[in-house]
Amino acid sequence: MQLDEHLKTLGVSDSLYEVMLACADGIFHIRELVHVGTSGYAGTQNVFGEDQLKLDVASNDILMKQLSGVKSVDFAASEEEEIERRLHIDGEFSVAFDPLDGSSLVDVNFAVGTIIGIYPGGSFIGKKPSQMYSAMVAVYGPRTTLFITVKGKGVHQYVLTDGGFELQKESIQVAEEGKYFAPGNLRACAKNPQYKALVDYWLDNQYTLRYSGGMVPDINHILVKGKGIFTYPGYVDVPLGDLASSPARGDSADSPARGKLRLLYECGPMGFLIIEAGGVASDGVISIMNKPLEQLDQRTPFFAGSKKEVEKALEFFIMR
Ligand code: AHG
Ligand code: MN
Ligand code: MN
Repeated sequence: MQLDEHLKTLGVSDSLYEVMLACADGIFHIRELVHVGTSGYAGTQNVFGEDQLKLDVASNDILMKQLSGVKSVDFAASEEEEIERRLHIDGEFSVAFDPLDGSSLVDVNFAVGTIIGIYPGGSFIGKKPSQMYSAMVAVYGPRTTLFITVKGKGVHQYVLTDGGFELQKESIQVAEEGKYFAPGNLRACAKNPQYKALVDYWLDNQYTLRYSGGMVPDINHILVKGKGIFTYPGYVDVPLGDLASSPARGDSADSPARGKLRLLYECGPMGFLIIEAGGVASDGVISIMNKPLEQLDQRTPFFAGSKKEVEKALEFFIMR
């Protein structure tokens, strides 16, 4: 069954259906870019001070163009742009995205992805990930696959064939436990003994490492295998609660206290997929879905995956 047909069987509203198909079209074109597009630097930086690759900018343009063609899209916000763009005033939806996550991995030919969150219209500031209607995440690997979730309607996987996105797996579930770990930001172990103790726990208990450096394929692994944990904590050894909320405490350019990952563009939509599949996604203190967005480029620590694995991991971060 094709994506468009399956969305209809899920009972997706006509207006949300139109936005999701426009995003799927954008993903189709980004895939072509990733596979054959030019690599190299665009000579510009994004709001995080990260050098933008031509692919970052080109994939951003593709999605912005797609969304500009959908009258029901109010604001569009991108990891690659400083401010949220107003496309159609008072549109029913606002869409936030990371057009190419893991772009620095393209030149080494690792899998990368696109992350999209579809919200009610209006500005993103003050919204919470729990308000998302839908999340769409594409994985550009040997094959191109797509996960979608629509609130309350489960998580489903599609594979790109000559005929379009074909349903591959319905109602994906993440089990309560599973001994796969994807430990992001391992550098933080040098300053954060709690993270070091957690990694030692995984090693002592013979967990299997499944980590590529790209959050999209790393979380794709948890969804496809149906178990495991992904972590990306902050850099400094303070109660996560402090880190999770303080906008700048302990921040430094190359080692942000709250870690590198962005709430709006990365952790919200990825957390939505994991939670809709029965897993847990947290900033270390609260569910990522309940974390209010204070600024577009807000970063957050991120722990996501099998419920018991995340609970166990967070035991190591509670200040003794
Ligand atoms: P992006 O390429 O969109 O800037 O983000 C990549 C992210 C995420 O995919 C991954 O988990 C993380 O960067 C890896 O960060 P480090 O390079 O610090 O390990
Ligand atoms: Mn990213
Ligand atoms: Mn990116």
